[in-house]
Amino acid sequence: MTINDAKQINGKNIFIAKTFAGLEGVLAEELLDIGASKTKIINRGVQFEGNKELMYKANYSSRTALRILKPIATFKALNEDQLYNEILKIDWEEYLDVNRTFAIEGITSYSNITHSKFLALKTKDAIADQFREKTGKRPSVDTYNPDLRINVRIFKNESTVSLDSSGESLHKRGYRIATGPAPINEVLTAGMILLSGWDKKSNFIDPMCGSGTIPIEAALYALNIPPGFKRKRFGFEGWKDFDKDLWEKVKKEALEKRLEFNRQIIGSDRSGRIMKIAGENVNSAGLENIITLKTRFIDDLEPPKNGGVMIMNPPYGERMTTENTTDLYKKIGDTLKQNYKGYASWIISADMEALKFIGLRPSRKIKLFNGPLESRFCKFEIYEGSRKRN
Ligand SMILES: C[S@@+](CC[C@H](N)C(=O)[O-])C[C@H]1O[C@@H](n2cnc3c(N)ncnc32)[C@H](O)[C@@H]1O
Repeated sequence: MTINDAKQINGKNIFIAKTFAGLEGVLAEELLDIGASKTKIINRGVQFEGNKELMYKANYSSRTALRILKPIATFKALNEDQLYNEILKIDWEEYLDVNRTFAIEGITSYSNITHSKFLALKTKDAIADQFREKTGKRPSVDTYNPDLRINVRIFKNESTVSLDSSGESLHKRGYRIATGPAPINEVLTAGMILLSGWDKKSNFIDPMCGSGTIPIEAALYALNIPPGFKRKRFGFEGWKDFDKDLWEKVKKEALEKRLEFNRQIIGSDRSGRIMKIAGENVNSAGLENIITLKTRFIDDLEPPKNGGVMIMNPPYGERMTTENTTDLYKKIGDTLKQNYKGYASWIISADMEALKFIGLRPSRKIKLFNGPLESRFCKFEIYEGSRKRN
C-alpha cells in the first residue's frame, strides 16, 4: 500500500482485522462469510476490502478479530520531522472536528523512531497544530473514551496511519462480569472453537471451565449469536460519518440469524466458588437455558454418551508444583481414555512437559499464544471399542 491506495482500492475501502498468531486463517474465513473480498493473510491479521456496512458487520459478528483498523495513509518516516510533516498532509477535518476527542496509539518496531509514546505524541502535535492553524482551536485528547482512536504503526520505517473502528478490543464482549484466577481470552477461545472444526451438531464440553469462557463462546457460536451482542460501544459510533440507521440494520440482521441448538453444552470445574462466577457470566450472556453447569472433578464428570467436542484449558505448570502438574495431566489422560470415547478432545497448554504426561499422541498440534505464553492446542481422539494409543 502507498499513501494513494491506503484508503481505497477500486472504490472499496481497505481494512485490517487484527487477531492473535495462529488465528489468521479462521479469521479470514469468518470475514469471507460476512462478505469481505480480497482477503489476504498478514502477520497476526487479515487485510480485506469492503464498505462501511462490512466494517460494522466485522466488528459485530467476527468472533476472532481483536480490532478492525481502517488505514488512511502510509508513508516512510525516517525521523520525527518526516513523521510530523506526513501526518500534517492528512486532512484531519475529514475525520475529526474541534468538538470531538481523539487518542493515539503508537507502535514502532525495527525503526529509527524507537519510542511508541514519542510517536504518539508527535502525531498528536501534528493533528492539533493542523486544527489550530485552520480554526484557532484544537480537539482534545481523551485516552479513556475518545470519539476517534488513531493507530500509528511504524515497521522498518514504513508508517501506516489507521482509524481504529473497534475502540476497546473486541475480546471485551460485555458478558463477563467476573473472572476466576486465569481466564482465557474470548477471541482466543472463539479461535480454538473454530479451529476444532466443531460442526455444532454434537455435544460440547469443557470439564475445567473456570469462569465459563469456553462454554459461553461455544454457545454463542452454536446459536449464531453475534459476539458483540452485549457490547455497549464500538469505536465507529464516535466517527463523523457514523450512520446510525445502517448500524441498527446490521445489528438487527445479525440477531435475526439466531439458530436452534439441540445438543448439550456443559461447563464443569472442581471449584464451587468458581462455578458461582461461571453461573453469573452464563446468566449475564443470557445462556442459562443453553449451558449446563456442574461442579465436579474432571474424573467424576460423565460427558454425554453420544460424543462431540471437548475443549479445555487446564492449569499450567507455572502456577502449580511439578508434582501436581504431572499428576493432573496423567489424570486428564486417564480420564480421556476412560470417558471421552467418541469425542474430539482438545487441550490448550503452555506446559509442554506436562502435556507429555497425558500419555496419548495428539493427532493435531497447533501453536497458539495464551497471553505471552507460547502454547500448544492439541487434539486427542479416543475411538469407540479401542484402547490402543493413537
Ligand atoms: C486455567 S483455569 C480455566 C480458566 C477458564 N478457561 C476461564 O476462562 O476462566 C483451570 C481450571 O481448572 C480447574 N481444575 C483444576 N484441576 C481440576 C480438576 N481435577 N477437575 C476439574 N477442574 C479442575 C481449576 O479450578 C481452574 O478453574
